[in-house]
Order: sequence, then structure tokens, then C-alpha cells
Amino acid sequence: MKTVGFIGVGKMASAIIAGLDKTKFNLLISGRDFEKTKQQAADLSVTAVQNHDELVKKSDLIVLAIKPQVLPSVLRPLSSALSADKTLISIAAGLTLADLEALAASENQGIIRVMPNINAQIGKSTSAIVRNEFVSDEAFDATSEIFGAVGSVHQIAEKDFSTFAAIAGSSPAYIYMFIDALSRAGVLHGLPKDQATKIVAETLQASAEMILQSGENPWSLVDKVSSPGGTTVAGVVSLEKNHFVGTVIDAITATIDKENQLR
Ligand SMILES: NC(=O)c1ccc[n+]([C@@H]2O[C@H](COP(=O)([O-])OP(=O)(O)OC[C@H]3O[C@@H](n4cnc5c(N)ncnc54)[C@H](OP(=O)(O)O)[C@@H]3O)[C@@H](O)[C@H]2O)c1
Repeated sequence: MKTVGFIGVGKMASAIIAGLDKTKFNLLISGRDFEKTKQQAADLSVTAVQNHDELVKKSDLIVLAIKPQVLPSVLRPLSSALSADKTLISIAAGLTLADLEALAASENQGIIRVMPNINAQIGKSTSAIVRNEFVSDEAFDATSEIFGAVGSVHQIAEKDFSTFAAIAGSSPAYIYMFIDALSRAGVLHGLPKDQATKIVAETLQASAEMILQSGENPWSLVDKVSSPGGTTVAGVVSLEKNHFVGTVIDAITATIDKENQLR
């Protein structure tokens, strides 16, 4: 059985650990404060270890579940505990495989980059994955299984990670804004906010499910809902006049630009 160690036990690590089958993986955690980590370990039914060095020594796969700005100071001192038979997995936004290789400073170090999203908290993350040349198929498959336990996993080229992070990592925020805007319109026209939000969220969920199940292009579905001379097409034209598509694309481009600036 593979031992998977998590460094950092925040929202994302907790969500992944909660989704994992504890009979398939031996799970270790190491946080910033051992007393807190022991409590978290009891809550998550995993084992707490005293420090990151010990965790790396005992683990086959090491998940770095800490903020990108903290990661360099955590990873650099672990260099001597790393080895080619261990695999590092980073979920930190913005840090490339090359950045991670430089920080790990360990020869032939297998490194996997994964970008999950907040929906991991309900077992429905849409995650991207990419590996460097030193990762074995076995380690890659085990990592895909770990993230597959909390949703879907898409293998993409590393050059597309920033785009993925924008349309899958940040987009839940934009989708929440869209839901809130539709709900607010419902309130403007007389519905209670809670009821309007539930109605919109259910409609959005079913509309997304329709795209996934039918495999149809979204625009052909727009056309199907828009009867000639009807109410829906009036709204579609109003959205277009107000640059709905261009506004959304600008927001995604701004998200990608910001990540590039942070690098
Ligand atoms: N949340 C998301 O939607 C999302 C999506 C994609 C990727 N990610 C990535 O996932 C990573 C974790 O994000 P998160 O949302 O889980 O953040 P989080 O909830 O803030 O968790 C980060 C954890 O790291 C711990 N930590 C801080 N310094 C540490 C150290 N020196 N050693 C060990 N642990 C330390 C923190 O402990 P204390 O609380 O005790 O300081 C906290 O529990 C980030 O790199 C983020 O970019 C997150």
C-alpha cells in the first residue's frame, strides 16, 4: 500500500483526504503546529507526524498542499530527505514544474503538478494534471486515483495550466456571480432571494448536465431554447448588446494575465 503524506492540512488537503479510501492508501499529515495537526489527524482518521522531514522520509507520494508563497520556504529544506523513488505533488497555483524542480534540488526528482478546484469539497473537483519526465507510470496512476477520488482529472500540457486555472480554478467565483445576478433579477421582480437562488442554482446545474449528457454545442442549445419572436431571444440579444461574451472572455484573460504577473 502506498503511503501518501500531506504537507499542509487546509481546505484542499482536508477535502482530498476526506474523499480517499483509507484502505487503499496509508495517509500521513504534517502541518505548521503539531498539536493542531494531531487534532486534525484524529478528525480525518489519518496519522500526524512531527515534522515535514519525517513525513517525506515515510511517504512514497508527498502532496504539497500549502499556499504558493509558503511553498519555497517549506520545500527547500526538504531537499536532503527527497529521492528519486519518491514523488512530489504540488497543487500550488502558479508554480511550474521547472520552479518546483529548482526548489526541490534533488536529482531525477519526480514531480507532478495538479490543479484541483474548490468543488473538491463536495467530491466534484475538475482537476488538471501534468508530470515531469522522472515520474513513473505507477506514481502517476496513483496520483490520478487520489485526485479522481474527489472529481474528474484532465491530463493537459503544462503550457495550458494557467488557462485551466482560470476557466476551472477561478471560474467558480464567476459562476457564483452569475447565479447571484440571476437571483437578484428574480428579487427585483418579486421573488424572495433564497428561493430565487435555489431556482437559479438548480437550473444552472441541470443546464450544465444537459451539455455533458447531450454532447451538444452550447450555442445549438441556446437556439433550441430561443423560439422565433419569443421571450428568450429578446434576452439573448440584450446580453449580446451588452457584451456578455466579450466581458466574460476579458475576465478570463485578466485572470491569466494576473497569474503571469505573479510569476
Ligand atoms: N482552495 C482552492 O480552491 C484551491 C484550488 C486550487 C489549488 N489550491 C492550492 O492549494 C493549496 C492549499 O490551498 P488551501 O485552499 O487548502 O489553503 P488553506 O486552507 O489556507 O491551507 C493551507 C494550509 O497550509 C498550512 N501551512 C501554512 N504554513 C505551513 C507550513 N510551514 N508547514 C505546513 N503547513 C503550513 C496552513 O496552516 P495554518 O492554518 O495553521 O497556517 C493551512 O492549513 C494552495 O497552494 C492553493 O494554491 C487551492
